Amino acid sequence: MTSAIADPRSPHTAVRRSGPNLEKWGWIYMRVSGVFLVILIFGHLFVNLMVGEGIHGIDFAFVAGKYASPFWQWWDVLMLWFALIHGANGMRTITNDYITHQKVRRVLVWAIGLAAAFLIVLGTLVVFTFDPCIGFDSDTASSLITELCA
Ligand code: HEM
Repeated sequence: MTSAIADPRSPHTAVRRSGPNLEKWGWIYMRVSGVFLVILIFGHLFVNLMVGEGIHGIDFAFVAGKYASPFWQWWDVLMLWFALIHGANGMRTITNDYITHQKVRRVLVWAIGLAAAFLIVLGTLVVFTFDPCIGFDSDTASSLITELCA
């Protein structure tokens, strides 16, 4: 028995609902955020692992020094938002593709969305409220922390 596969460019017959085509925008978002993620992730790795002392220079004072600058705060927050929304939307696509039971699929897609939203809020709060001076002790603090907190 043979069956014909429709021409991939033929117009599909499913009724198109009115309003914005969210699947199309999700598809575009994956590509656009992919470009930003390449810049943000490789910039992050280059600055943390290769510039100056490289990986050997990473400690609490290094992180405190970076988060004293709004530039790095925004760099990391944008990386967090782009990656979490990208990852969550990708997991949503996989869930929609493979989970055939409608209720299970709906629960999983909601769980992915809630987990991503929670992590975005938590991560954003951490970056913008980070205070390296809590528990500051001038006897034991490194010179960079003393410079930031004294
Ligand atoms: C260098 C950075 C990245 C680039 C250029 C990139 C690019 C892409 C592109 C173009 C797609 C769409 C593939 C398709 O529709 O067939 C995709 C899918 C996906 N990405 Fe990324 N991505 C990056 C980083 C990440 C990160 C950091 C995560 C996790 C947080 C992630 C998780 C996913 C997932 C789960 C999918 C769905 C896979 C699928 O549909 O089979 N990606 N990525």
